[in-house]
Amino acid sequence: MSDRGQSVRAVAARVLQSVENGQSLTQCLPPALNEVADNERPQLQALCYGTCRWFHRLDAELQARLKKPLRKPDRVVHHLMLVALFQLRLSQQANYAVLNETVEACRALDKPHLTGLVNGVLRAAEREGEPACPDDSARFSHPHWMVEKLRHNWPQDWQALLDANNAQAPMTLRVNARRFSRNEYLQQLTDAGIEATATRFAPLGIQLASPVAVDRLPWFADGAVSVQDEAAQLCTTLMDLAPGQRVLDACAAPGGKTCAILESCSGLEEVVAIDESADRLPRVQENLDRLELVATLVQADAADIDQWWDRQPFDRILLDVPCSATGVIRRHPDIKLLRRESDVVPLASIQLGLLKAMWQVLAPGGRLVYATCSVFPQENHRIIRRFLTQQEHAVLREPDVPWGRDMETGRQLLPDPESHDGFFYAVLEKPEP
Ligand SMILES: C[S@@+](CC[C@H](N)C(=O)[O-])C[C@H]1O[C@@H](n2cnc3c(N)ncnc32)[C@H](O)[C@@H]1O
Repeated sequence: MSDRGQSVRAVAARVLQSVENGQSLTQCLPPALNEVADNERPQLQALCYGTCRWFHRLDAELQARLKKPLRKPDRVVHHLMLVALFQLRLSQQANYAVLNETVEACRALDKPHLTGLVNGVLRAAEREGEPACPDDSARFSHPHWMVEKLRHNWPQDWQALLDANNAQAPMTLRVNARRFSRNEYLQQLTDAGIEATATRFAPLGIQLASPVAVDRLPWFADGAVSVQDEAAQLCTTLMDLAPGQRVLDACAAPGGKTCAILESCSGLEEVVAIDESADRLPRVQENLDRLELVATLVQADAADIDQWWDRQPFDRILLDVPCSATGVIRRHPDIKLLRRESDVVPLASIQLGLLKAMWQVLAPGGRLVYATCSVFPQENHRIIRRFLTQQEHAVLREPDVPWGRDMETGRQLLPDPESHDGFFYAVLEKPEP
């Protein structure tokens, strides 16, 4: 029990309940971290991320152990038992501590009538060990629909893809080329006792051997580096940026790529960063401030160009569309619980709508990079194909790069347990009249 009076397990159970009710961990974990003692925060975080990551496997076991589901008002106790099963099956925690503290947490959640059930279920789980997984959803710990969709989309790779989604992602940095070369910053890290290597494909990327708090990174507060996955860094390398260009980042928050654009090319005429989310847009400004960069921020629906466009065309556009985020599940395991199969078609229609709108604000001779952190062709290859059938003048450029799979309309990276996230990129150009 923490000195703030909250059992870490009880808080974790409530966080999971919020995720089940549609909130992301990014939304509901930060306030929950304030409910526990400082030294318990890493544990709370590990419990929430770990239980989400293994939710479908743990839930299959729990459902089999419960004679009937708990009543809706008691659902939080279901999540409490999932947290305990996560610890029993996947952590080093001593079993007796898990059992005792979970029963205590059940009382802390004001559910004393369920302590007997919790105790019985967990004792049986401890005694009998982990059961065989009933199906691939439990085996790979992903929702059934996602397993089936990935099996269909990636017949050769689906198992490796699902395994990669369950691995811990590395911490990757982007060096601010205005401050340090990559080699100089690697030396800074060595001097600080932080083991790291250069990323394979992103020219400014550095992958750490193990994650560290950002305040341990040399000159972080002064803008020497940013935390950004290698795949996300590759977007900027496809933009062919040059001084004097007017650049649009159409879905910009929290601003990782806006900052990468500004860092990688000085002398751009203007960078306009749009996001429709009033909550997320301030994060772009925070990142710009730390890196001492300047962009024009606009809160708007990028697709509604009458609302925000000043009729000055853009030479370069990055369209990093909202998507299923199925390429970044290892960093955001709550996506397994949040995403529904029925989300994909509406997302694809938003993506195509944004692409068509951005085409209108692209200058003749200009270039647009379409990107998603999705591994579903429905949001990637097929969007570009649909767009090209409607925009016969659009020119598809084949990026000459040594990474990713050639999808005819762009390049697809699948998440790599050793390095980058899953991402898709397509490069389109508008011919001069
Ligand atoms: C994949 S995230 C962008 C990540 C960002 N490019 C980065 O690298 O930090 C997609 C963003 O699109 C925003 N968004 C969704 N629909 C939008 C729209 N119609 N117009 C502008 N922004 C939109 C969301 O609020 C979200 O911040």
